[in-house]
Amino acid sequence: MSQLVLICESNPESLDSIRKILKDEGRVVLKASDKKEVKNFAEDNPLEAVILDFQFANNSVFETLSYLKIEHPSTKIIMSYSAEYENLLSDLKSDEEGMKSLGVLGITKKPYNKEEINSLLGQKFNVESQAISSQEELSILDKEFSTIKINNFYFDNIAIFDLYLRISEAKYIKVFHKGTIFSIDEINRYKQEKGIDYLYFKTNDRKSYVSHLNDFLEKTLKKNNLNTIKALKITEGLIGNYVNELYFQGISEELLDEADKICTNTYDLLRRDRKIATYLDDFQNIFQEGISRAFLTTVFSSLIASNLEWANRMTHDFVVKGALLHDLGKLDLPENIRTKNLNELDPEEQAIFKTHPEKGLEILSTCNVSQQVKQIVYQHHELVNGEGYPNGLFGMRIFPLAKVVTFASDFSKFIYQNKLSPLDGLKHFIPDRTIVCRYDSACIKAFIKSFARSKSN
Ligand SMILES: [Fe+2]
Repeated sequence: MSQLVLICESNPESLDSIRKILKDEGRVVLKASDKKEVKNFAEDNPLEAVILDFQFANNSVFETLSYLKIEHPSTKIIMSYSAEYENLLSDLKSDEEGMKSLGVLGITKKPYNKEEINSLLGQKFNVESQAISSQEELSILDKEFSTIKINNFYFDNIAIFDLYLRISEAKYIKVFHKGTIFSIDEINRYKQEKGIDYLYFKTNDRKSYVSHLNDFLEKTLKKNNLNTIKALKITEGLIGNYVNELYFQGISEELLDEADKICTNTYDLLRRDRKIATYLDDFQNIFQEGISRAFLTTVFSSLIASNLEWANRMTHDFVVKGALLHDLGKLDLPENIRTKNLNELDPEEQAIFKTHPEKGLEILSTCNVSQQVKQIVYQHHELVNGEGYPNGLFGMRIFPLAKVVTFASDFSKFIYQNKLSPLDGLKHFIPDRTIVCRYDSACIKAFIKSFARSKSN
């Protein structure tokens, strides 16, 4: 076995330290400054090991790992990291299978420790088990999975849960173990070379995905040059997954916290780019891979709440939270009723369907949710002409913020079903007196204003 070790370390002090440790043990040491040098050294010399710093050569660590794993699978890789990456890498350090899927023998925190390095270099690396763990075909029911569109793959190069490819009905291969570090090129290669559009994850992990997307959106919104379309796509994925989690798994304190974060993020999104409505008018082009109605309802609610005469941050957040939770009561309806529209049901089923606002209120009665949000959930099917339910309230008697969500929800359904842009939808919606008399004129005006404001900015 060669005693040649390649060091990929940019910090001069750390470099001196690891070089001394290795030389003291009689090893021959080489140093690479970038991934090209790694490739050259690895091709020319049979390497015993590579010491790879997590911050190596402007974050090219993922590509370097990927190259070594494929081309030199028997080379031991020891990854090192400094204290600032503690949170990111400490979990992985204790995750044997995750490290194997990366091709990493061990992870060490800097400053380098002589005993730890020597102990890691003394270990044997089971290359065979590494290959099996990342390629094993698994039989798991399709209903246990949710999808991530590769076009909308928003991760910080580290898999926060196991990711799979679907081979055929109920057959999956785990391609990234939780904690695996990957480059986005690897993901795109699945699409470009193999024509794969989706990765799959266990629906049990959806809550983590929602939390991740909320954090990812927050970070995206803090960047100096905001990519609004990217931010909208993250928001779409976030709200779609949030509502699915909520309506199929039920309410929880964690999900209510995530709803608060969504309120903050949507508020910041509108403040960062006043032309959001213009992008939404083009949503069929922007979201060619599909869009959820929940997203449209929530973002329309946010736009209206921001453009009402008496709008403020607090009312915005009540409205957005109400929009996210408004159909929560459907959770308690029988499956064959809750997935249908009212006009697809017989009179008996319709009566059951119409209980969902009350059921929603009931569910929220034990939760830490404001009265305003509860009123939105309870009244989101009341119409100002008195034809709504559950109480057939007329205009003034309906809670003003509930009227926002009623319009946003019904209007998004209208354009969704008729495949119209919001502005084309308004052109059909407004002239029809039998429709427009159901909604609060102030909400419709605020909605139109958001498009006018968007165009004039
Ligand atoms: Fe509803």
